[in-house]
Amino acid sequence: MIIRKGPEEIERIARAGDLVAATIAHVGDHIRPGITTLELDDIAGAFVTAHGGVSASKGYHGTYPAEICISPNSMIVHGIPGPYVVKNGDLITIDVGVVLEGAIGDSAYTFGVGEIDPVARHLLDTCLEALAAGIAQAQPGNRIGDISFAVQSVVEEAGFSVVRSLVGHGVGRHYHEDPHVPNFGQPGRGPKLTEGMTIAIEPMITVGSPDVYLHDDGWSISTEDGSLAAHYEHTVAITGAGPRILTPRVGIAVESASLLQ
Ligand code: MF3
Ligand code: CO
Repeated sequence: MIIRKGPEEIERIARAGDLVAATIAHVGDHIRPGITTLELDDIAGAFVTAHGGVSASKGYHGTYPAEICISPNSMIVHGIPGPYVVKNGDLITIDVGVVLEGAIGDSAYTFGVGEIDPVARHLLDTCLEALAAGIAQAQPGNRIGDISFAVQSVVEEAGFSVVRSLVGHGVGRHYHEDPHVPNFGQPGRGPKLTEGMTIAIEPMITVGSPDVYLHDDGWSISTEDGSLAAHYEHTVAITGAGPRILTPRVGIAVESASLLQ
């Protein structure tokens, strides 16, 4: 069942989303060679708490142990912060879900650390472009498949792969709600988008094969072939005035003016 939200609830999700965006930027400011992902998690947790929020991830499914997810390089999602030491050239994905005033926002951003190689840069730009193309389809009267197809087209035209086994989702009252928002599909298919729906659009893409594996920790998911991954995510409301990003970026330098971040 898809939960449609009224204007008051959408404003609460937007306030949670603003805290999510600020948290991502704050963590991003601390990403540098030598810092561990556990230190970054502590920084995130302190920031969320200081702003009156609570991590939506900690305790998720009864077992997720950290404040946020941090996934380096070939790790795609749900990386558990720990002893990993960030190094120059890494891709570090920061994925943040926050509860504020009973509402949830969800967003992710892949940072390049220092000098990254040209293929990694192209992967990040493609993932940003795919997210922007997906968001552009988040209009009343369109269908989920229109978002899926737009994302997939951008990614595959660039020669990269879309992960199939992980999808975007409804969000706002719960961390994961209906509908699924796959990053592959056919235009005109799937649930119709109507005003008041709030969805997380989140392309997860790889340089090589789209196949993934689950680590022994029961959470972290990486590419099977060890190739690099990227992941950008926004919480978006479907409104009569078009897509409204509820997790708008703050404090992150615009790398390419043509790309929605
Ligand atoms: N933020 C993730 C998403 O994009 C969900 C993380 S669940 C966790 O859907 F438990 F791993 F944190
Ligand atoms: Co999500």
